[in-house]
Amino acid sequence: MKKIAVIYWSGTGNTEQMAKALAAGAEGPDAEVKVLSVDDATVDDAIQADALALGCPAMGNEVLEEGSMEPFVESLEGQKNGIPIVLFGSYDWGSGEWMKEWEERMRNQGFTLLEDGLIIQNTPDEEGLAACRALGKKLAAAVV
Ligand SMILES: Cc1cc2nc3c(=O)[nH]c(=O)nc-3n(C[C@H](O)[C@H](O)[C@H](O)COP(=O)(O)O)c2cc1C
Repeated sequence: MKKIAVIYWSGTGNTEQMAKALAAGAEGPDAEVKVLSVDDATVDDAIQADALALGCPAMGNEVLEEGSMEPFVESLEGQKNGIPIVLFGSYDWGSGEWMKEWEERMRNQGFTLLEDGLIIQNTPDEEGLAACRALGKKLAAAVV
């Protein structure tokens, strides 16, 4: 059974909707998906999974949410383990700069990002939710 972890922070629920759709896409007879708010997640939940999805909206001025997600991402530093990872999150008025920086940071630390992060403006619509499900499916399929 593949173990897939989806760990996210969401203030107003948009990234949470993305997390749930991604998890629905990843689930299958051979895949067990754990969806966790970052406040309930441990480093082990992330690095002992067979695949990992991390979600956070653009906050501050194009940065990760600083109270919970930023420290969690910091705690993953030095923990690279080769599992496939995807990033996702909602934004509003920006151009996705927070996600570009997050991708670069993860790649510089040696993590294997399956593809560029999935970003959706505000609340995901049906098309956005379908993109999240497709990403979840791709993440599950990437587990060897
Ligand atoms: C304090 C705060 C800072 C934000 N900073 C940005 C930003 O820098 N760039 C941007 O595109 N959106 C920014 N936003 C908008 C959020 O990313 C957007 O509302 C998103 O949908 C929130 O996702 P959530 O519902 O998962 O919390 C900010 C929102 C808040 C409340």
